[in-house]
Amino acid sequence: MPRRVYLETFGCQMNELDSELVAGRLRTLGYAFTGESAEADVVLFNTCSVREHAEQKVWSRLGELKARKADDPNLVVGVLGCMAERDGEALIRRMPVVDVLCGPGELDKLPTLLDNAVRTRASLAADAPAEWPRGLRSAREVALQGNTSRRSATLAAAQDTLEMLDLSRAMSPTDGEGMPKRSAYVRITRGCNKFCTYCVVPFTRGAEVHRPPEHIIEECRRLADAGVVEITLLGQTVNHYRFEHGAAVTVNGVTQPQKGRSYTGGHRRDPFAGERVTTFADLLARIHDAVPSIQRLRFVTSYPRDFGDDALEAMRDHPRICRYLHVPGQSGSDRILGLMNRGYSVGEYIEFIDRARAILDQPEIGRPLAISGDFIVGFPTETDADFEATVAMLRRARYKSAFIFKYSARPGTVAIDKYPDDVPEAVKRRRNNALLAAQDAIGLEVGQSNIGRTMPVFVEGLSVRERKRRAAGACSAHGSVMLTVGGRVPSACGAGPSHGEEAHEESRAVERVQLSGRTDTDHIVLFDLPAGARVEDWIGRLVPVRITGATALALSGSPITA
Ligand code: SAH
Ligand code: SF4
Ligand code: F3S
Repeated sequence: MPRRVYLETFGCQMNELDSELVAGRLRTLGYAFTGESAEADVVLFNTCSVREHAEQKVWSRLGELKARKADDPNLVVGVLGCMAERDGEALIRRMPVVDVLCGPGELDKLPTLLDNAVRTRASLAADAPAEWPRGLRSAREVALQGNTSRRSATLAAAQDTLEMLDLSRAMSPTDGEGMPKRSAYVRITRGCNKFCTYCVVPFTRGAEVHRPPEHIIEECRRLADAGVVEITLLGQTVNHYRFEHGAAVTVNGVTQPQKGRSYTGGHRRDPFAGERVTTFADLLARIHDAVPSIQRLRFVTSYPRDFGDDALEAMRDHPRICRYLHVPGQSGSDRILGLMNRGYSVGEYIEFIDRARAILDQPEIGRPLAISGDFIVGFPTETDADFEATVAMLRRARYKSAFIFKYSARPGTVAIDKYPDDVPEAVKRRRNNALLAAQDAIGLEVGQSNIGRTMPVFVEGLSVRERKRRAAGACSAHGSVMLTVGGRVPSACGAGPSHGEEAHEESRAVERVQLSGRTDTDHIVLFDLPAGARVEDWIGRLVPVRITGATALALSGSPITA
């Protein structure tokens, strides 16, 4: 019987992609996957360290496994990702249930670590004298980049094997739940070199490395061949992408920028662009042209200072590149931006937003531009006046949506050492709520500006409301839907004998299946599946939807069917 793995993912899209790659690799090695932790022989958490809250969720999951591990010492528990890298072996000391630690830069080693862990557990269980305490019977498997991750020789060698994980990606036509897979992430850049003072990512993900364009394009092509129609390119500062062909350190195609030649951003145009350099703008255009069956090409997350006009023009001139930018601002106070080491001023940020709108916002041809942002409230020393400046910047930028976080002091960062976390929690909460309220008002106006438009919507699946309704056991006699959604419908809902015929008759009259999709501006659009249509036939389709309503968070409308 194959080992059954339960894999739970926390954190950002980078982690979602890592989990997909790891799961694909483990499947090819004969592991099976289960959605129930209790059924698994191997429990893996792919973790995030960006805020303390993200780590707390993992601590509580690990705590839940203590009792089970005491009964079943053969259970293998692994912590993967950023928290493993940040906390290192201290994590095992605090939580001895953990057998395997694997940082995000070492995930290619995971199969070996698991294999060792499984085998050691079996032999320890067989050989160890029964009177030995349980703790002594276990051994640990650990792969972390640690402080070697910024040394170029070790980095190049590590990247080389990591690159294989992306390249050998399993191209599955369905997602983990058996639904058609039409959307995928593709990494273009690993790591981050910005060192914003509050942020753990440069420590957990290591130095910034750009993947060769040929590898990226090949991956997009293979995904498209497997049925994917929407690709989101990933990088922590995705628009900083820049690949120097034949540059200094190259190990099997993975290149480090040449010293003194590297171009560090703040650019309108890359002066080195040409045959030897593939810029972000070049990469977008090349993917767009090389893989025409990709209907939508997106990218996250953009860094405001690195956006050249060339990339904005590539977006404008290539119709299948989405008109959406996620560009975190973090603060509207120059003083706080300086303490954060963000490397731009409020004026420069606004200049970028205005420039992007001048080039890309074309509502008259049905192609508006939408922008979203991230903000941190309550950064050390933030005053009411700093916060008001943030509200002003948020209003000025007119975001479609914004992610707002309370500052969380993270071990290992510059900020935790240099700046006491002196904004009281109650003040952080108040500012958080006030900024959310300001954004809600703007989000509503931006959403309403779409009413009356017909927008192509990429159908992602059942809406959150629809899933909750089904999970709560609401049942429908809408046979074509209920029978085809497969694994996503709770079995209690399967028109089983416990449901009376009258109830079905009643629900038939009111039954609607709500789907959710996205515009190319990344607006969520909710609409009803036309009667008689099947959910899985609609997933992954681009459907024109006439927008009739808007809230601060989503649009609603009716699909136009021929
Ligand atoms: N690379 C991306 C962001 C990665 S982290 C960028 O630079 O834009 C995602 C978001 O988490 C950040 O934009 C920031 O708003 C937030 N964040 C990061 N560290 C944080 C911290 N210590 N406390 C609160 N929010 C944080
Ligand atoms: Fe963190 Fe700054 Fe890098 Fe984003 S750019 S990942 S916030 S260090
Ligand atoms: Fe979290 Fe690591 Fe992503 S810290 S936000 S999972 S890069």
